[in-house]
Amino acid sequence: MNLEQVDILYDRDVIMARVKEIAQEITRDYQGKSLLVVGILKGAFVFMADLVREIDLPLEIDFMDVSSYGASTVSSGEVRIVKDLDYSIHDKDVLIVEDIVDTGLTLYYIKEILAKRSPCSIKICSLLDKPSRRKAHIPLEYVGFAIPDKFVVGYGLDYAEQYRHYPAVCVLKPSVYEK
Ligand code: IMP
Ligand code: MG
Repeated sequence: MNLEQVDILYDRDVIMARVKEIAQEITRDYQGKSLLVVGILKGAFVFMADLVREIDLPLEIDFMDVSSYGASTVSSGEVRIVKDLDYSIHDKDVLIVEDIVDTGLTLYYIKEILAKRSPCSIKICSLLDKPSRRKAHIPLEYVGFAIPDKFVVGYGLDYAEQYRHYPAVCVLKPSVYEK
């Protein structure tokens, strides 16, 4: 990690302790259900990998990638599916795994799209939550950490596709992007 560019917010040990707590809750809540864990690419891949290995239940895994529509609709936050799920979610208990919820618009639309496919249930698990920037009302059933309105990278999160591999969640120093 280049500590001239980032300040560590949550190191690997702190994150893993919280991931284990969340996984225990999920293990309790999904007893006897058909759990399908859906990761939103790319940001969720690190969190998802740690989380599912701590869930002590049978489960399936799938991934989805979305991007915002063109410039005219950016403000609406409406999303386009870049990579859809490989399998049907009919009658599954879907747990969406995200890296961070900011305005909430991305997850609002993802949930709307998936709800039309007759799943048994849909819940959301996000590592990070920036509640101060919320625009869409979206319930988050499992949250790792609520954070202030700072731009964070690492543990899957990027800035211009960099920093995803940093093991800690870090605040990116504004000097890196205010050039
Ligand atoms: P929103 O909730 O629709 O505004 O968008 C959430 C998405 O924006 C996340 O999945 C991230 O890809 C990205 N994002 C929001 N805040 C941050 C941040 O602080 N660092 C890195 N990516 C972020
Ligand atoms: Mg994302």
